[in-house]
Amino acid sequence: MMPPKPTPRPDRVSLLQYMRLFRADILSAQPARLYRAWMAEFRTPFFRSYLCNDPALIDLVLKARPDDFPKSNRIREGLTPLLGNSVFVTNGEVWKRQRRIIDPAFEGGRLRDTLPAIWAAGEAAVARLSPGVTEIEEQTSHAAADVIFRTLFSIPIDHAIATKVFHEFRAYQRTQPILNLAAFLPLPRWFPRLHRHATLRAAKTIRSLITQLTEARADEIRSGTAPDDLATKIMQTADPQTGARFDTAEMVDQVAIFFLAGHETSASALAWALYLLALNPKAQDRVATEAATLPDSPDFAALSQLKFTRDVFRETLRLYPPVPMMVRENQCPETLRGRTVAPGAQIVLSPWHLHRHARLWENPDAFDPDRWSRDANKACAREAYIPFSAGPRVCTGAGFAMVEGTLLLAQLIRRFRFETIPGDVPVPVAHLTVRAKTGIRLHISRRA
Ligand code: HEM
Repeated sequence: MMPPKPTPRPDRVSLLQYMRLFRADILSAQPARLYRAWMAEFRTPFFRSYLCNDPALIDLVLKARPDDFPKSNRIREGLTPLLGNSVFVTNGEVWKRQRRIIDPAFEGGRLRDTLPAIWAAGEAAVARLSPGVTEIEEQTSHAAADVIFRTLFSIPIDHAIATKVFHEFRAYQRTQPILNLAAFLPLPRWFPRLHRHATLRAAKTIRSLITQLTEARADEIRSGTAPDDLATKIMQTADPQTGARFDTAEMVDQVAIFFLAGHETSASALAWALYLLALNPKAQDRVATEAATLPDSPDFAALSQLKFTRDVFRETLRLYPPVPMMVRENQCPETLRGRTVAPGAQIVLSPWHLHRHARLWENPDAFDPDRWSRDANKACAREAYIPFSAGPRVCTGAGFAMVEGTLLLAQLIRRFRFETIPGDVPVPVAHLTVRAKTGIRLHISRRA
């Protein structure tokens, strides 16, 4: 059975209709031709935007000249109350310095150290599940938040502050999703983007909770009692160029983005992966067989045995990329596929369309994890697959997320069988990440 895909809009709609559709969902606001086009221009009264699917353009924007295509300020405005000056929103020298301090914590060797914490979160997720019908996004959100707290601060999600952050964050998202779209909506710069009172309050609460955790950690580092987790690693890393470390305020900004970028995205991917496996029982059995080989505290070698499970997670990120679109702004005049693009245009890269592009992928809408082991797909995988973005601004957590996704999937499938509920088909919509419009319900039973 084909995995669900949103119904595209008609080719021509008025600006007002477009804005309405956009508010509802970015994915169904787009026309079907984007699954075949190399580039599409959108004209609004205030600016132009160009959606690029041509692998050569994606290479140009993300890898060849990324400094000429910085992050759009529109995104920044929407997220500032929560994220401050975090690495996700900064540009130029500030961003480069932040990456020099953060990146080492996520390198291969250090990633290895996070395995026991990820495993423990996976086992806790297994313990929370029980047979019957379950809304699975709720479960994966809980699990992904648990992973972040355990790996970053060595505390489980049941820790009082962690629980509070998790709940405040949900409140924040309930008030925020529409406003966040202001970042993409064709509104002029001078248009006031008022943050709702509730959004500001939630952002403030989250930041004050994260500040408590960060300050406590700074004290532990000073007294030599800090656990060796991601927070300690990042706070102890000095910028190799200036010798400076993050102060508490700047660290709080980074913790906020690790939490936001790291838990929403993984939760979305894990939920869709479980749905896809429920839709494809044979693939699920193959994952179960592989997962049965896992020892009780796996190392990287055991993880590397989970080849098919990893391909299932990859294929999920292709069909349901948690970050469906990214926006950049060109600084200089550009010629893109023969069209002149004035500075200040919005350059939209869409993993969602690229990953399902009819001229790039074989059977693009089908769930086929084995495509990842076929040689014929190598070029496509390299050029037309960007769930974590690419180039210097690639997701810092990409390696981490692949380990987390593969491991949690194996842990869950090892213990439970997941089945779809007839007639209950989730509809993908994109707000902050790609989620199901009314959740994903699956029937769960224990495996013998
Ligand atoms: C399946 C899970 C994940 C997906 C699909 C994902 C995807 C992405 C994408 C597409 C970007 C680039 C956004 C843009 O340029 O506009 C990004 C950036 C980022 N991600 Fe992830 N991410 C995931 C998990 C994580 C995790 C686990 C962490 C941290 C613990 C993380 C931390 C970040 C950070 C800090 C950035 C900003 C990097 C920069 O701008 O320099 N992500 N992620």
